Amino acid sequence: MGKRKTRSDDEVDEYSGDVGIDEGMEVKDEDAGNGEMKKEEMLLVGKEEEDGKEDVLGKASESKQKRERTDDDEKDESGSVEAGAEQTDPAADEVFRIEPICKVPPAREPRIPPPGAWAQSTDDILGPDSQHNYVQRWRKMSDAEKNGTVIFKVVRNDNKRESMVYLLGLKNVFVKQLPNMPKPYVTRLVMDRKHESVALLNRGPSGELQVMGGCCYRPFPQQKFGEIAFLAISHVQQVQGYGTRLMAQTKERSKAIGLTHLLTCADNAAVPYFKKQGFSKKITLPMEAWQGYIKDYEGVTLMECKLHPKIDYLNVPLLLKAQKMALIEKLREVSNCHIVFPGIDVKAKGGIDIEDIPGIKEIGLKNIRGHGFQGSRSGAASVAARDPAARQALQKLLQSILTQIKNHNSAWPFLQPVNAAETGAVDYYDVIKNPIDLQTIQERLDLGWYYITKEIFVADLKRMVANCIQYNGKGHYITDLALSLEKFFMQKL
Ligand code: COA
Repeated sequence: MGKRKTRSDDEVDEYSGDVGIDEGMEVKDEDAGNGEMKKEEMLLVGKEEEDGKEDVLGKASESKQKRERTDDDEKDESGSVEAGAEQTDPAADEVFRIEPICKVPPAREPRIPPPGAWAQSTDDILGPDSQHNYVQRWRKMSDAEKNGTVIFKVVRNDNKRESMVYLLGLKNVFVKQLPNMPKPYVTRLVMDRKHESVALLNRGPSGELQVMGGCCYRPFPQQKFGEIAFLAISHVQQVQGYGTRLMAQTKERSKAIGLTHLLTCADNAAVPYFKKQGFSKKITLPMEAWQGYIKDYEGVTLMECKLHPKIDYLNVPLLLKAQKMALIEKLREVSNCHIVFPGIDVKAKGGIDIEDIPGIKEIGLKNIRGHGFQGSRSGAASVAARDPAARQALQKLLQSILTQIKNHNSAWPFLQPVNAAETGAVDYYDVIKNPIDLQTIQERLDLGWYYITKEIFVADLKRMVANCIQYNGKGHYITDLALSLEKFFMQKL
């Protein structure tokens, strides 16, 4: 979030109202007063609390804190502890399907498969849900909440010791994750009695709770909107789905207290995150409802999220599953895409005509050979397929081009199929689902009937280049070789 534009710190005090830290309250924080905090309570204070602890523990503990901080930083740099655990987590490879949030009625009048073909089930069309990252993260979060390792708690400054400890932990996470925010300002808002926070707590192995992050907002019940002041996840836990879950919890809490909109002033770095959480720069809430109420910032973007009463933000994947299923059921009534025809052994047949491909006639295209059908094996294809002389000429041309490609200086990485073990690209075939290489192209050309058009041949070559870019990324030297090869063959073709 950006820095305040107009109000001074004093004005902020006035604005935030009653900070509400009672005299004699045993809270230890440089911004929140003096007193003693019990040892076990310290555990409750966020992992990022080292800054705040300096006053409590004094200089003697400084070196210890520095050491701990370095350990944490090292953990961060080498990838988070949880991220590391994720890699070895056997559950990560588990294939699973989720149930839709509601019952989806089947298609009323689905298209019936012709004899020999069959209808694919909706489950098979959609495939497993475990392949989607967002579903995996949702499941991990829901499970963590169910088994109590992760807890979301609404906290406000209600004078209770426990709340104060959580709020202090939260303040420390915000201060560390939002370094541009003045510390006293963060403290004032977090402790302000008009604000409340959804705190994300993590239960450690010995049962202790740690503040891992949270969202602090001010509800405006009369205008039915809430203004998010701060939202952060501690560094080690970021990009694991906690931020999304936190936002979902905040939305559900907002709905529960009668809010219909959430507003926030996001700085440039936070805009993409808020966009992914359903916030938009388009403000639909009437200006009179929010202008003058929310804080005025410089260099930030006001964003809004409209809360839909019917959306269960904690179970969006189940809702999406129901929507996908409903769509497939509807498609059954208007298309044949659920109908599967038995495969054909093209090699045994030595190539077949387009019309003979099972299912082609059923798609209802007229004049397959004429202008009406622009498939890759049409038009010239039909001519080449039927005219032996044309077919031979094409074969000769493609062979000559392929030989030149194979002899090109940049061709060496593409001469054979990628050997994942030898090259160290162990995940190559997980990433590249349609592999192709010059040897395979040669084998296809040798069949004599495979490349019945130049376009099919070019498509294979281009796929080889695209696979290379996808796996190695732009700027990689193998990608550069692929691009130079592409330039060469495009000149020849
Ligand atoms: N820029 C672009 N995308 C971001 C992002 C950022 N700064 N932070 C998170 N994302 C993306 C993630 O990559 C992920 O995308 P995906 O779903 O397509 O994979 C998505 O947003 C949600 O990620 P998630 O893991 O749920 O979020 P998180 O736990 O990393 O928490 C923040 C997100 C913003 C809360 C966290 O990065 C943070 O605390 N940042 C510092 C404080 C901050 O900037 N707060 C926001 C303004 S107050």
